[in-house]
Amino acid sequence: MSEKKAQLTIDGIDETIELPVYEGSTGPNVVDVRSLVGKGVFTYDPGFVSTAACDSDITYIDGAAGILLHRGYPIEQLAEKSNFLETCYLLLNGELPNQQEFDEFENSIRYHTMVDEGIRLFFRGFPRDAHPMAMLCSAVAALSAFYHDSLDIDNPEHRMLAAHRVIAKMPTLAAMCYKHGIGQPFMYPQNEMGLAENFLHMMFDTPCEAPSVSPTLAKAMDTLFLLHADHEQNASTSTVRLAGSTGANPYACIASGIAALWGPAHGGANEAVLKMLDQIGDESRIEEFIAKAKDKNDPFRLMGFGHRVYKNYDPRATVIRGICDQVLEELGSMNDPLFRIAKKLEKIALEDEYFNERKLFPNVDFYSGIILKAIGIPTSLFTVIFATGRTPGWIAHWNEMLSGSYRIGRPRQLYKGHTRRDYKS
Ligand code: CMC
Repeated sequence: MSEKKAQLTIDGIDETIELPVYEGSTGPNVVDVRSLVGKGVFTYDPGFVSTAACDSDITYIDGAAGILLHRGYPIEQLAEKSNFLETCYLLLNGELPNQQEFDEFENSIRYHTMVDEGIRLFFRGFPRDAHPMAMLCSAVAALSAFYHDSLDIDNPEHRMLAAHRVIAKMPTLAAMCYKHGIGQPFMYPQNEMGLAENFLHMMFDTPCEAPSVSPTLAKAMDTLFLLHADHEQNASTSTVRLAGSTGANPYACIASGIAALWGPAHGGANEAVLKMLDQIGDESRIEEFIAKAKDKNDPFRLMGFGHRVYKNYDPRATVIRGICDQVLEELGSMNDPLFRIAKKLEKIALEDEYFNERKLFPNVDFYSGIILKAIGIPTSLFTVIFATGRTPGWIAHWNEMLSGSYRIGRPRQLYKGHTRRDYKS
């Protein structure tokens, strides 16, 4: 029971309304407004700026302090000491696995990477120039057609099986989106490879040659997936929860998350960074673009800078910056004109008073776009990579919701339309 209370007086309602206030383990308190509907009023919060829509034990963000914790563990420590699959286990199960638990989990993921041959035929029906996100979204939704024998969302074993399946199959489907677009044969996953290595194999190897994946790039890819694994109640995760609250099957819910991620305000920013670097075109034009970004009369913003939640360095950006240098070094791309522009832009902006005053730091998308481009991943596939990394977060939130008590998500509205009027014939 809550000890703390908030008191609310509203014009037209005689009584003072008492609302319970709950404390989380850390972070802001929340005021429980559920009783307000009984008094005939709703709260108004477009964009859910001040609204907690659920309880969660999975991820905590303190944007002012630049903190991101998964199940209590700082993202920097996970990026340094853990790996993507171990972090998936942590998000799903709440604790880090011991060696036996990790081996069993890894094995389960390994043996679920293959997709039904029917999915391969399904892909063939897409136009060659279909957007990769359109293919991914449809292919994930289509998985529910193949696994209807294990879609009982009230059965914890079915839920965990769906979680393993979707985490395992996303890299396979992501690579199929790419291969279909360039007309190359789909590559089967290789069970002796790790998840990120397997992904790069399915992306860039062909049946004509022996597999050749750089361990440095595989490690960078793994850390990129890890850094995107979860980010609390963002738009796509909230979409997955909302869809899940209706009792929809997990593949349909993840497909709805992919659709939400597709929007440029969410998953599309790393793509925008590359477009901006292309637009700048030459180091000599950087100052001109910095001036445009500072000009209040110009809508241009420096893509990959600033964050709605982080008003400090995004902790993921700190990690990814180091990986970016390693990848460029490994690929001998340090002198690539685009990357030189990126590095110089970063340096100038970090020293600029305008950006410092406003706490505008390079965000995770600034570096992830550069790394993906260096690895050879086309810009149109960037959001697909983001979706692959975010899948454990989506499915962990879905599972958390279904494991506890929940109600169908059903926001209300402030109606501003016509009042009742009669139809005149
Ligand atoms: N370039 C230039 N000025 C900026 C930028 C930028 N990238 N971002 C914010 N500002 C200025 C803004 O004009 C305002 O200035 P003033 O106070 O003088 O009016 C001030 O900084 C605060 O801006 P805001 O719009 O209130 O900041 P916000 O926190 O609401 O917006 C943002 C966050 C991410 C939408 C914004 O920083 C932006 O548009 N960045 C570029 C796009 C980008 O990189 N997006 C990816 C974010 S990470 C995605 C993820 O984690 O999923």
